[in-house]
Amino acid sequence: MWNERYSSKDYAYGSEPNDYFAICLAKYSPTGKILCAAEGEGRNAVHAAKIGLDAYAFDISEEGKKKALQLSNTHGVSINYAVGDFLQMDFTKNSFDATALIYAHFPPNILSTYHQKIASLIKPNGLVILEGFSTNHLELRNKNPKVGGPKKLEMLFSIESIQKDFKDFEILELEEVEIELNEGLYHNGLGKVIRFVCKKKVS
Ligand SMILES: C[S@@+](CC[C@H](N)C(=O)[O-])C[C@H]1O[C@@H](n2cnc3c(N)ncnc32)[C@H](O)[C@@H]1O
Repeated sequence: MWNERYSSKDYAYGSEPNDYFAICLAKYSPTGKILCAAEGEGRNAVHAAKIGLDAYAFDISEEGKKKALQLSNTHGVSINYAVGDFLQMDFTKNSFDATALIYAHFPPNILSTYHQKIASLIKPNGLVILEGFSTNHLELRNKNPKVGGPKKLEMLFSIESIQKDFKDFEILELEEVEIELNEGLYHNGLGKVIRFVCKKKVS
């Protein structure tokens, strides 16, 4: 499904970074290495590289990688992009200064494990930046399928599920908000999202 979506000429979620991701990078100014999870066509990783971060990304889609490298070439930056299933990937623990989970929705049986692995890769004081659809988004999606997002409730986020998955982190921002999305071909209209930033505590 993802390879098919990404094999078109257009960028599925646009070629501009997600608004909240860009705002958080400007606000918290992380430096060093950032890992963009389930990064698709690379819009966030390319933005991170453009502002001087050492950008890493991964996704299961080979077509996503091709589009991401095309976008990075267009902007004259380089990104490190791995293709595969995150749970099988060999990233070094405590090695990233920040991670981004932008619309990184996974099946319920692996979602918490995914978040635990992300948490393990961040350095003490490192950041997690997340924006994703909330459980209350389904109603809006049913009214307007063009806004996109998973159809399954269990793949969506809630304030409680995020607090649980990142319980050892210092929460800097966590809210559920209604926003107007205008991202490429597949995120258009009113959506309900969780916006979250947290910092790994120094143990
Ligand atoms: C809604 S897209 C988000 C893309 C990107 N983060 C963005 O904001 O433009 C979700 C992405 O999750 C990826 N994905 C789904 N399951 C995955 C898995 N098990 N491991 C890695 N990536 C996965 C898909 O290939 C897809 O690119």
